[in-house]
Amino acid sequence: MTLDIEAIRADFPILERRLPNGKQLVYFDNAATSQKPQCVIDAMTHFYEAYNSNAHRSNHTLADEATTALENARDRIASYFGTSPDQLIYTSGATEAINLVAYAWARENLGDGDVIVLTEMEHHADIVPWQQLSIEKGVEVRYVPIDIESFTLDMNALEVAVADASLVCVVHTSNVLGVRNPIENIIEMSHAAGARILLDCAQGAPHERIDFDSMGADFVAISAHKMAGPTGIGCLLVKPDAMEQMSPFMTGGLVIKTVSTEGTTFQEGHAMFETGTPRIAEAIGWGAAVEWLDQFDMMEVHEHINEIASWTAMQMREIPGISIYGEPEREDSSGAVSFLHESIQSQDLALLLDEGGFAVRTGHHCAQPLMDALGVPSTNRASFWIYNTMAEAEAFVAYLLYVVERFS
Ligand SMILES: Cc1ncc(COP(=O)(O)O)c(C=O)c1O
Repeated sequence: MTLDIEAIRADFPILERRLPNGKQLVYFDNAATSQKPQCVIDAMTHFYEAYNSNAHRSNHTLADEATTALENARDRIASYFGTSPDQLIYTSGATEAINLVAYAWARENLGDGDVIVLTEMEHHADIVPWQQLSIEKGVEVRYVPIDIESFTLDMNALEVAVADASLVCVVHTSNVLGVRNPIENIIEMSHAAGARILLDCAQGAPHERIDFDSMGADFVAISAHKMAGPTGIGCLLVKPDAMEQMSPFMTGGLVIKTVSTEGTTFQEGHAMFETGTPRIAEAIGWGAAVEWLDQFDMMEVHEHINEIASWTAMQMREIPGISIYGEPEREDSSGAVSFLHESIQSQDLALLLDEGGFAVRTGHHCAQPLMDALGVPSTNRASFWIYNTMAEAEAFVAYLLYVVERFS
C-alpha cells in the first residue's frame, strides 16, 4: 500500500485553516504536537454527548459504558504497542510517565552509590526528575555527550558510563535533531551491565511502531498528543518484574483496596498508579487515534516524512546564512529540521515564517543541555508528519529564501 496523502489530509479538518492574514496554514510544528483526525474529535465528542459519566465507580448504564470504553481503549493502545493492558499505566503524557519512574520506582530502589545515566540529548522531562532525585537520594547522574560533528551520541562514552549504572534513561528520537538513537544497542548494553532502561519515546512513537514486549526496555514513556491523539494523556509501559518493584506514588481514590483510619491497602498492577477520576475522554480519543494510525505501515510513514525532511534540509543548506543542526538527510532521521540563520534572530524568523503561513517552533525545545552542547541558545525547527506534502516543503523553502534575501 502506498500512502494516499490527500486522503489522509482530508481526515484533518484543521489543515484547511487559513490564518487571519488569509494565508493557508502549513503546519510544520508536529514535534510539538500533531493535529487530530476527525475520528478522534468524533470519539471524544460522542463520549461527552452520549455517555459522559465517571468510570470505575457507579452502577448505571452510562457509568458502565464509560468504564468499558476506558478499558477498551487501554486494550487497543496496549495492543498497538505490542504489550498487554496490564503493563500500561495511563499518565498525563511522557513527562508524567518519566516522573512516575522517578517517584514510584527509582525512589524506592535507588540511593547513595547508584548511578543514573542520561544523555546530553534528553528533553528536560528526562533530566529534571533525575536531578531532583539526585538531590533527594544522593544518586549520581551522569551525562553521555553528543558528538557535535555527527549529531549522534558518543557510543564509546555511553558504554563506559553504563558499566556501573543502575538506570539508563535515553531519548529514543531527539525532538531537536531528529536523530534516532541506536536504542537496540543501548538496551543490550544497559542490560549487560545489570541496569534498568527507560526510553523516552515521545518522539519515537509517532514515527515508528514501538513494540514494547519485543524491544526489551524496562520502561517506555509515550505521549498521545504527538501521535494524533488528544493532549492530557500518555502512558508508561512497564515490564512486569519492574512493576513489581514500584510503590504507590500519587495516592487518593481508585488506587486503594481499603482505607481506614489505621491505614490503606493498595490495588496491584497498573491500578496502583491511576488515582482520581481517569482521563476518560482522552483515553477514548487516544484509542481512536491508534486505530486510525493502525491502518498505515509505519515504515511507509517514516519514508514519506524522511523524504520531505531530507529534501527540505538539502535545499536549506543552499540558502545563504542557514545552518542546520542534525542530519535530516540520514535514512533513519525522523523529520525534524533544526536550523538558524546567521543574522536573522530565531524569534524574528519564526514570526516572518508565520506571516507566510508556516508554523514552526522556536526556542530551546526543552533541551537546554543539548543547546549548550551545540553552542546555541535556541533554534528554529520545522518538523514534519504524515499529512505534510512535498508541495508544502517546496513552498516553505521558497518562502524562506525570500525572507532571507529580504531581511538578512
Ligand atoms: C523527547 C520528548 N520527551 C518528552 C516530552 C514531553 O512530552 P509530554 O508533552 O507528553 O509531557 C517531549 C515533548 O515535546 C519530547 O519531545
